[in-house]
Amino acid sequence: MRVAFTWRIAALLALSFASAQDSETASIPSIGGGNGCPKIAPGPVSFNYLAGQFSPQALPDPIAIESIRQTLSLYALAIDGRDFEVLRKVFTTNARANYSDPIGVLNGVQAIIDTLPPGLNTFVSTQHHLGTQYIHVCSLTSAVSVTYFQASHFFTPYTGVGNPVDNSKVLIDRAQYQDTWARQRDGTWKITNRNLVRMGPTTLDGGIPTQ
Ligand SMILES: *[C@@H]1O[C@H](CO)[C@@H](O)[C@H](O)[C@H]1NC(C)=O
Repeated sequence: MRVAFTWRIAALLALSFASAQDSETASIPSIGGGNGCPKIAPGPVSFNYLAGQFSPQALPDPIAIESIRQTLSLYALAIDGRDFEVLRKVFTTNARANYSDPIGVLNGVQAIIDTLPPGLNTFVSTQHHLGTQYIHVCSLTSAVSVTYFQASHFFTPYTGVGNPVDNSKVLIDRAQYQDTWARQRDGTWKITNRNLVRMGPTTLDGGIPTQ
């Protein structure tokens, strides 16, 4: 009796809520959408295609989104901190990553851990600055994201704010990561497919410095 009554109230509330919406918004989406992920893997996909793949969700999943954002930040900390083992927390074991020119496609997190350090270690330090970002959670276990970044690669060490260097000492890369995500058993999210896609030429004023 009590159960039936509760159901009737719930149905009435749902009905009044639904009728308060216009026809376009009458169906109430579930958290995270659930309409499947935009197809961006294996990619890379064009910027034009990408723009049409997303539309803001009525009820985004803030927990999943923040968890993914933390992992993206951890990636920058791992790269700039030169702690490549941390990348195991970022990529699945079998992750595929197309790092584009000059690295190309890497298969598996071990290949990523082995291949990235030699190039990065030719610089004194790096700073990966993440910017414009769209994280789209498609289901309880799948998501895609796009994250712009600007990476500064320094040829000389920091020697004080009063001693600046000119732009020939910094190689700047402007690109985006197109990432596909899978939720893990422990609730964290890891990248299964990544494309690093350049958005313009790298810049280095004054030519490549000789050592
Ligand atoms: C890797 O990415 C580059 C740059 O975005 C692209 O030109 C190339 O076709 C990709 N390679 C593969 C095998 O997908």
